[in-house]
Amino acid sequence: MNTPDNGVRPTDGPVVALVPAAGRGVRLGESTPKAFVPVGGTPMVRLAVEGLIASGAVDRIIVMVPTELVDSAVALLPPTGSVQVVVGGAERIDSVRAGITAAPDAAYFLVHDAARALTPPELIARVTAELRAGRPAVVPGLPVTDTIKSVDAAGAVTGTPERAGLRAIQTPQGFAADLLRSAYATEGIQATDDAGLVERLGVGVHTIPGDPLAFKITTPLDLRLADAVLDGAGIGRAVAP
Ligand code: C5P
Repeated sequence: MNTPDNGVRPTDGPVVALVPAAGRGVRLGESTPKAFVPVGGTPMVRLAVEGLIASGAVDRIIVMVPTELVDSAVALLPPTGSVQVVVGGAERIDSVRAGITAAPDAAYFLVHDAARALTPPELIARVTAELRAGRPAVVPGLPVTDTIKSVDAAGAVTGTPERAGLRAIQTPQGFAADLLRSAYATEGIQATDDAGLVERLGVGVHTIPGDPLAFKITTPLDLRLADAVLDGAGIGRAVAP
């Protein structure tokens, strides 16, 4: 992709990955904040950071954690000058904003949930390549296998969007840095992903194929799946004839 269709010029400059890891992780049923829960013996946040480093596409990584866990995070993350830990916020959006503020030099941002701990480095490199080629906003997504319905507060179905036109969106989500700064410039905004904020600015967001391994570890079942993937045997045993 050499010709951006949006007027945004490709630029050189640092790619800074922001890793929100300040969630409490209630749905996982653990007492430890989610990003610090081990998967295959290694805390999720460390796995996520190792994936970013292994991609070879990221210049700097900023990890946002709960205030009381800054020291623990520094101790468990790779001891390289390219990884920095900052205090996150009450909501994910506040944590990402803290990361943006800590990287005034960024030319591109990747926002990558610590909870997507098994994301293949190759996916991270593909998102970054699209950014460097001039796309202002790039997100990985997978076709959905369930039929999705909208419902009202009472549980009554209000619509059934056509499945073929839906994607389950993953991270890393990549953005030209100034675009993400603009998206976060307004206080009090709400969105479940960063691309949603960019869409509100009227800027096109491009999807690329995601990867099943970039699933978000949210429930106890997800945690067992992630352990099995790292164990290397569980998945194969489950599907073997
Ligand atoms: O809760 P959810 O699974 O959507 O969280 C996605 C990511 O955002 C997790 O990695 C979590 O640690 C992070 N997060 C954060 N600050 C918060 C809440 C969530 O960094 N206040």
